[in-house]
Amino acid sequence: MVSTPTVASSSLPWAADGVDVQSPNRNLAPVSADLDPQGRLRVGGCVVSELAQRYGTPLYVLDEASLRQSCRAYRDALQRHYPGPSLALFASKANSSLAITALVASEGLGLDAVSAGELLTALEGGMPAERIVLHGNNKSAEELSLAIQSGVTVVVDNWRDIELLQELTAMRNEPVPLMLRFTPGIECHTHEYIRTGHLDSKFGFDPDQLKEVLEHLAGCAWAQLRGLHAHIGSQIFELDPHRDLAGVLADAFVLARSLGHQPSDLNVGGGLGIRYTASDDPPSIDAWIQVVSEAMVKACRDRELELPRLMCEPGRSLVAPAGITLYEVGSRKHIPGLNTYVAVDGGMSDNPRPITYQSEYTAVLADRPAAPASETVTLVGKHCESGDVLLKGLPLPATKPGDVLVVLATGAYNASMASNYNRIPRPAAVMVGEGRSELVQRRERPDELLRYDVLPERLRSVG
Ligand code: LLP
Repeated sequence: MVSTPTVASSSLPWAADGVDVQSPNRNLAPVSADLDPQGRLRVGGCVVSELAQRYGTPLYVLDEASLRQSCRAYRDALQRHYPGPSLALFASKANSSLAITALVASEGLGLDAVSAGELLTALEGGMPAERIVLHGNNKSAEELSLAIQSGVTVVVDNWRDIELLQELTAMRNEPVPLMLRFTPGIECHTHEYIRTGHLDSKFGFDPDQLKEVLEHLAGCAWAQLRGLHAHIGSQIFELDPHRDLAGVLADAFVLARSLGHQPSDLNVGGGLGIRYTASDDPPSIDAWIQVVSEAMVKACRDRELELPRLMCEPGRSLVAPAGITLYEVGSRKHIPGLNTYVAVDGGMSDNPRPITYQSEYTAVLADRPAAPASETVTLVGKHCESGDVLLKGLPLPATKPGDVLVVLATGAYNASMASNYNRIPRPAAVMVGEGRSELVQRRERPDELLRYDVLPERLRSVG
């Protein structure tokens, strides 16, 4: 049974049916979004056009209430639906920063890192090492060393990881906590770039290799296999793939036990989708966890296994709905009978998802989100690239330069995938809640982008 979401009434024009306050991933806007008496959009009690004025644009805004609610939804749903121990880990590739790490840690979640940078952010942000796992299909010796020294669990992805770990642990007495990642061979419907669970994937061991690698690890004194991991893909609305995954993981668990390991953890990865446009209808966090939990309990009962610690690794569904991006409207180009382009002061460098995955978004004007549309425009960025399109077919009231435009649901895979293309500085980020706003990432300045350039003496201009 899937529980009914708690829906609060809403003054937001795009949420006429209300807001699912329990499961932020089901809403277009952050859960705290509302309109002030003048009809201007507020998030976390802050008028967003005033945030744009104060901090500049483009600006990433993160709603603390949505972030906390998403963490609690995962944590509480696991407690409600899974009778064994459990831990939700934040997949920090979705948005890695000290502030988000600290917030997620304070909610009792763990964290998944995939690089030295994400790992350092997690450790500096106060995430306890025993709640961190290090992923990666090509980890460097430096990344593995850092993980070993910090006491982080390493998710072994391939034979190269094993070789490097063997070398790095030669002088150690204590075994390294490991999980083993394999491709579960489960297909799901999402963009091919963000599908990872099918057999033709660069991530994890092939299921046919599982026995051999488990046998090998059983003979390694430096290795302590704590569990198994599989991830199917991202932005998934179906529930069946995760139902199937439980059985595949439980079989691997039985195999590991039969080969002498004492694993305690099964990690089902992330993948729950979110609402980017009105027509998206993802399951709630509670429904997703319920399916995963019930499937895991059944798979274990069928195999007479005691319940493992159930882990999951949500990224997008935890942070995307908390984030919005503010831009300032600039130039316009009208081509009669063909198209109207409206340009903003950011684009593919702060949100590479439309050009990379043809992702769709929803956008509104900050101070007139309820105003009726008077034209349909193509919203473009400022980069020297024709594909730098944020939104196609966007219905918009008349705009003028200086208006603040808001793109919704940008909290995941925007800041973390941002670039400096065209040497454009990356935006600042602020966290908002209860009428207060705090800078959590400083805006880059153009001159800072030269920091890592080196001009050899012989190339210095001689006029
Ligand atoms: N665990 C593992 C091992 C993963 O590879 C991923 C995502 C996650 C967890 C988190 O998945 P989520 O809950 O966010 O779906 N850049 C793409 C998404 C790439 C996802 C990569 N792995 C995008 O912008 O759509």
